[in-house]
Amino acid sequence: MNVQTVMVIGAGQMGSGIAQVCAQAGYKVFLNDLKPEFVERGLGGINKNLSRNVEKGRITADTRDSILANITASTDLQDASQVDLVIEAAVENMEIKSKIFAQLDEIAPAHAILASNTSSLPITEIAAATKRPEKVIGMHFMNPVPVMKLVEIIRGLATADEVYQTIEDMTKTLEKVPVEVNDAPGFISNRILLPMINEAIYALHEGVASVEAIDDVMKLGMNHPMGPLTLADFIGLDTCLYIMETLHEGFGDDKYRPCPLLRKYVKAGWYGKKSGRGFYVYE
Ligand SMILES: NC(=O)c1ccc[n+]([C@@H]2O[C@H](COP(=O)([O-])OP(=O)(O)OC[C@H]3O[C@@H](n4cnc5c(N)ncnc54)[C@H](O)[C@@H]3O)[C@@H](O)[C@H]2O)c1
Repeated sequence: MNVQTVMVIGAGQMGSGIAQVCAQAGYKVFLNDLKPEFVERGLGGINKNLSRNVEKGRITADTRDSILANITASTDLQDASQVDLVIEAAVENMEIKSKIFAQLDEIAPAHAILASNTSSLPITEIAAATKRPEKVIGMHFMNPVPVMKLVEIIRGLATADEVYQTIEDMTKTLEKVPVEVNDAPGFISNRILLPMINEAIYALHEGVASVEAIDDVMKLGMNHPMGPLTLADFIGLDTCLYIMETLHEGFGDDKYRPCPLLRKYVKAGWYGKKSGRGFYVYE
């Protein structure tokens, strides 16, 4: 199948990045969110990113404008009736995602593939909300999307081989590297990454070391480009908590229990960089 038109659902940090890379690759993109101001915020971020590339001489102002012209703002899910592929990047919550996929199943053309950028939720369960589970797949982009090369492609139980192939090929057109993974809690990336972040939060919670000291140990001692608490702030602490809960429930193993301090921060609305405060304070 030849993908030409894409809808991205959720104009947050991931959705806007995904819309940007799709538009850069020449796809026509609908960027959808619940309210016009949410879509505008996402578009503003894309414009800022691209304008930085113009200033640095990486692209021309004309190229920026033609990339932006590939993106149409949307607050109506009915726009999915015009697309070949939907990439859902709304919040990490099974109830919300299932509802979106059930609606998309009614609206999107029969040939359309429905992908989720979920960080950890089972693709098989999301697919069960539709009558086309063979056309449902995981496309797990990394943050920040325009920079990071990896896309984990997750096969649900029923995902058809030709659907996998279409998505693998499409991912390469975005100048990303697809890696095939089967459906299991947290896939590969977050099954390994999030327990490390959660352990760093436990170390802080137990007073073993300060935020800065924990990050310094992992940066200077393990050669990580950023410390786990900084990374948690970048991912979003609400997203980190959802993922730990998914691992905990999915494996039924207490080694994945979310740290109480993570829960406390999320309850306080300290979501990390996107809310201005997490383990660090952001301007
Ligand atoms: N943050 C990361 O590092 C990261 C990395 C990979 C994958 N993900 C996954 O990507 C998804 C989005 O994460 P994010 O960090 O961009 O979150 P975010 O909070 O920045 O953005 C989510 C957006 O979805 C919108 N939204 C919520 N419900 C919606 C609905 N029913 N219809 C349309 N829009 C809706 C919200 O208004 C918001 O703008 C999550 O599933 C997350 O697990 C996140």
